[in-house]
Amino acid sequence: MEDLMQKVISLAKRRGFIFPGSEIYGGLANSFDYGPLGVELKNNIKQEWWKRFVQKRSDVVGIDAALIMNTKAWEASGHLENFSDPLVECKKCHARLREDQIQDSKCPSCKGKEFTKPKNFNLMLKTFLGPVEDAANTVYFRPETAQSMFVDFKNILDTSRQSIPFGIAQVGKAFRNEITPGNFIFRMREFEQMEIEYFVKEEEWEKYFDEWLGEMKQWLRDLGVSEKKLHYVDIPDGERAHYSKRTVDIEYDYPFGQKELYGLAYRGDFDLKNHMEASGQDLQYTDPKTNEKFLPHVIEPTWGVDRSVLVAMLEAYHEEEAPTAEEGESAMRVVMKFPFWIAPVKVAVLPLVKNKSEVVLKAKEVFGLLKERFACQYDETGAIGRRYRRQDEIGTCFCVTIDFDTLDDNAVTLRNRDTMAQERVPLDSLASTIQERLYDKNN
Ligand code: GAP
Repeated sequence: MEDLMQKVISLAKRRGFIFPGSEIYGGLANSFDYGPLGVELKNNIKQEWWKRFVQKRSDVVGIDAALIMNTKAWEASGHLENFSDPLVECKKCHARLREDQIQDSKCPSCKGKEFTKPKNFNLMLKTFLGPVEDAANTVYFRPETAQSMFVDFKNILDTSRQSIPFGIAQVGKAFRNEITPGNFIFRMREFEQMEIEYFVKEEEWEKYFDEWLGEMKQWLRDLGVSEKKLHYVDIPDGERAHYSKRTVDIEYDYPFGQKELYGLAYRGDFDLKNHMEASGQDLQYTDPKTNEKFLPHVIEPTWGVDRSVLVAMLEAYHEEEAPTAEEGESAMRVVMKFPFWIAPVKVAVLPLVKNKSEVVLKAKEVFGLLKERFACQYDETGAIGRRYRRQDEIGTCFCVTIDFDTLDDNAVTLRNRDTMAQERVPLDSLASTIQERLYDKNN
């Protein structure tokens, strides 16, 4: 299993999905940059999420708020006081660790057995606004996208004509000064979240909690995550985040163990109540039918973008023996079997030969047509089998090959990534055939 992680990390770097950040300067502790293919993969995930949970629903609206908020918001939310992990130091090698990461009472770095007493280490990432670096100018990068959705609640209510139940959604960066980032893009100090704060009447919270759990399960199926690797863990009293009355962690069997992928929390009216008290603004909702005023309660489904990418890559990675070695290539192939909708490249256009100008011209014409509709690559370098393998390795859904016959019959060969089946398709129905196959529900 560890091996799978190494293979995915190496493929991610080799093919331009994800690189270590600032690499030419020796990197920067667990920061990563998404390369040309990684950004497409990540954008496909974020765009589908937005389409599904914001644009296709009439009860959810989106925002895109500032990353740095008034510090009073973090006092009110409890983050300045409570958003911390217990930090200990190994007395032998001085490694700083989260207390819960000590295994069998031993330091994971040097196996030392003595540690300092745990102290609460706040995870908020601090900086200063303006030229003077003093307490008055201290601000924090948001550790979750959630708070701006509470702080903006009144503005949204006043402008969007929503009535309860309704949700506010946001996709964006969050920052945490994690004590021990690690496991590639699993735990970083700068990462992205997709979150919804769904406002309900207190007595209806359970119904909507279950409804959102169902939505999250469906999302995971569509992302191609195996059911058997998922665990829905009800977090017991005393272990939940400071704001939560019920939390279900959706955990996944990563190669490095069962750990959190997404979360679903019932935040009660904790946040709105605290912001109302701290700001002095009335954040209550008025029921349009009864005129009753009350503070809505909140169900919060939250998705990590980077963990979605990681899980999608782990699930997609396959090494398999191809039934027939295609020309110029070995029988073994590495193939990223992404669900078609997240694949960074949908179609590759490949002229069979590059030394016949009519074939190349035709291929470029086909590429010109297809790239108007699909994420496409053009590749004319190397034996055709090798080019197929290159495309398989990045998960390209279809390869279109233009050969000598194309010049006569105006048809091309369409190869399916997963089955490797090849079929002859007339050029004038090529785009519609690809469109149909890409969005066929069975893929
Ligand atoms: N607003 C609720 C909240 O922030 P969380 O469980 O702390 O809850 C939500 O974070 C999600 O964000 C997690 O389920 C995970 O997918 C992602 N996440 C949290 N910390 C992360 C980190 N250091 N690196 C990458 N993703 C992280």
